[in-house]
Amino acid sequence: MADALVEAALKARLNAYAPYSRFKVGAALEDASGAIHTGCNVESPTYGLTMCAERVAVFHAVSQGVRTFRRIAVAARTERLTPPCGPCRQVLWDLCGDIEVTLVNLKGKSESVRLKELLPRPFDAKFLR
Ligand code: THU
Repeated sequence: MADALVEAALKARLNAYAPYSRFKVGAALEDASGAIHTGCNVESPTYGLTMCAERVAVFHAVSQGVRTFRRIAVAARTERLTPPCGPCRQVLWDLCGDIEVTLVNLKGKSESVRLKELLPRPFDAKFLR
């Protein structure tokens, strides 16, 4: 069965602006109502100002007023499935909590894990109270 979230991540990947690394990534985030919010990586010649697809997707959704999320799909052209980087894991935890993370490649290989498995023992707002 086709997964609309995976399809959206693969489609978003085509918009990646990655002239420096040539490593294109797409992300699609499903909110609590079932709506899909997408992002792709956007690179800077400074390198450090580059923004990953996952953070673009979550900032895109939050900027539209969405606050509750269920799943994210991340698409890249790698044999070994590409997981979110460390900073993206933290930002996803901050804004989405323990969502399901589905990793996919262009050959249709996929795997789903909980964000907590990728970011065990996270720092979060609870520590600030
Ligand atoms: N990148 C993402 O967008 N998401 C990931 O999960 C891994 C890395 C981007 C950042 C940069 O534009 C390129 O991939 C190479 O690191």
